[in-house]
Amino acid sequence: MAPKKNLRVLSGIQPSGTLHLGNYFGMMSRMIQYQRENELFCFIANYHALTALPDKDTLAQNTFYAACDFLALGMDPEQSTFWVQSDVPQVTELTWVLSSMTSVGLMDRATSYKDKISQGITANMGLFSYPILMAADILCFDTQVVPVGHDQKQHLEITRDIAVRFNHTYGKTLVIPEPDIEKTTQLLPGIDGQKMSKSYHNTIPIFAHEKVIRKQVMSIVTDATPIDQPKNKDTPLFHLYSLFLDETEQKELAQRYDGSGLRYGDIKLELFDRIMDHFSPFREKRDQLTANKKQVHDILHFGAEKANKVAESVLDRVRSATGIGYF
Ligand code: TRP
Repeated sequence: MAPKKNLRVLSGIQPSGTLHLGNYFGMMSRMIQYQRENELFCFIANYHALTALPDKDTLAQNTFYAACDFLALGMDPEQSTFWVQSDVPQVTELTWVLSSMTSVGLMDRATSYKDKISQGITANMGLFSYPILMAADILCFDTQVVPVGHDQKQHLEITRDIAVRFNHTYGKTLVIPEPDIEKTTQLLPGIDGQKMSKSYHNTIPIFAHEKVIRKQVMSIVTDATPIDQPKNKDTPLFHLYSLFLDETEQKELAQRYDGSGLRYGDIKLELFDRIMDHFSPFREKRDQLTANKKQVHDILHFGAEKANKVAESVLDRVRSATGIGYF
């Protein structure tokens, strides 16, 4: 469900290198739709990426490509505000202020930190206080609605806790944001049936080489139901294909699954074609952008200036509420 009209909607995405269907359907396509009727703020979270990516060239490149991805998919830098997180330093200033009123206990309960550590990522303070930086991202812009994937639900709850605590301590200063979590994002499976996520190596990338996309699609797990028997619809292949179908087409697909004679291999090839068709206009736009670094840089610079103005006015309120503004 789209938010009500004329609200300030904000979201960010980590520059992870390869954009996949999970990112696209979880957050990006919704954001891009919202920009028609809402005031959209959107940024590339490179400081968040820094917590787990100590490689200079990769971080810089991923940031650039993430910007190209968004712009190619329809982010309108005139109508919306689109920037790179580190270009608006008020966010890190706010992070410190918020850190000073966030209990260690609240951070201890954050599950994504534990998940990352269990995946072998080095425990560092940036990773530990990741949710506070994310709260600052949101609160720094008087955000009303935050569209995110299901995995970010707890971070939104933490953001709200911090904002409520701030307002309770210093008087009403910060806007309390509402999460906007699309139901379908809970379900978006990767090719192995687990949640689609880069860390599980089960993604279908959007702008990768055709061969890579085909290989991933052909590797989607299926079962050994004989060809003349009905097939189970609660399966990754069915769910992934449905993303690209309208209601009538979804019904037709369901009928084919319920009947006999369906071959998974055929369905996979159809899905592959759909993916390629769906993203082909975006792919062309993206090729133009990646070949034109200066244009992308100018767009990001323009966005950072717009974001900066809003952040500065919020920080003014925060500085005077807390006594950091001492005159
Ligand atoms: N943590 C988010 C993710 O990994 C990215 C993010 C950073 C974000 N700051 C944000 C999302 C603020 C929404 C709002 O997907």
